[in-house]
Amino acid sequence: MVEYEERTAVATPNIALIKYWGRRDSALNLPFNSSLSMTLDFSLRTKTSVLFTNKVRKDIFYLNHRQISNGSVSEKIDNVRKVVKEMKELAGVTESVKAVIASENSFPMDSGIASSASGGAALVYALNSSLNLNLSSKEMSIFARKISGSACRSVLGGIVKWNRGKREDGLDSYAEEVLDYKGWEELTDIIAIVSYRRKAIPSSVGHDITSVTSPLYRIRPELAEESIKRALKFIRDRDFEGLGEIIMRDSNNMHAAMLDSWPPIIYMNDTSIKVIHAIERLNESEGRIIAAYTFDAGPNAHVITVRPQAERVRKALESVRGVKKILKVGVGQGPKLVEESLFSNPRYPESRFLREILAA
Ligand code: DP6
Repeated sequence: MVEYEERTAVATPNIALIKYWGRRDSALNLPFNSSLSMTLDFSLRTKTSVLFTNKVRKDIFYLNHRQISNGSVSEKIDNVRKVVKEMKELAGVTESVKAVIASENSFPMDSGIASSASGGAALVYALNSSLNLNLSSKEMSIFARKISGSACRSVLGGIVKWNRGKREDGLDSYAEEVLDYKGWEELTDIIAIVSYRRKAIPSSVGHDITSVTSPLYRIRPELAEESIKRALKFIRDRDFEGLGEIIMRDSNNMHAAMLDSWPPIIYMNDTSIKVIHAIERLNESEGRIIAAYTFDAGPNAHVITVRPQAERVRKALESVRGVKKILKVGVGQGPKLVEESLFSNPRYPESRFLREILAA
């Protein structure tokens, strides 16, 4: 048997500045519009270890130290299985060799912070290295996209653009870095956690409800492409005011289309709306835009600002009743390989499991 080295990678979530919502192909996660995001730094991360062995009979997955059985825990597990299979085939791994994969988030899955983007990116990164595939970031982004659309952007650091592409096979739908993570280091995401609950409607379902039923959505794909062009110019000019306005308007536009869906989809809650008002008051008192709110498929607020304003934004958020926790996160560099594996920590069940089977 060819030996594949055990590998561990860490990757981070990203926050969309211009959102992905609505898919032209839901099996391949091909979007109707391009999107733009900022990769977050390592203060929030997913760590994933992979190992190949012929001592087990099927691929085995651990998520946060629990073994995943079919159809449980995460709706993305089927996508994960598919991608593991495709990458193994690409590397010419024989059928009898199976993967053991363990993944752990540094933030709780129910914290309202999306883990599918960092999880998908960390997995593809670790597999690429373990299987000696030497894939380009474009190729890794395509694999990560099939796990979760937004994961294709977490394969890269800095400011990232996911080109929607036009091909049916999705080979032109992948993410590219548009600005290195050191290019605008001052950018900061102040996250206000307002709810720890899991979202009622998973994004994988919400995408299709909105694109099929919302009349407002019809204008969204083109609008998003235009917003990206304008945002890229503001990023080039390091013009925060210009960028901030587009960020808020794009989030509002996506949530308007969600509300316009049938049945309506409402991810924001009362506290989210209070955050919007608090940021409006802050910007008004300043006489210019120093902070920009944006919401994904959930009620937690991401407030984008620049570092010198971060404390003021934090204070404004602290004064909002219902905000449970505030995190400050900078621009991240994208995934990397690390030494310490989840299989080497004797406290973890995946480590005990491996020791037993490898000793058998
Ligand atoms: C609202 O990436 O979770 O966060 O492709 O079905 O996995 P799937 O969807 P997902 O959608 C995230 C949508 C969003 C906006 C964004 O991140 O661009």
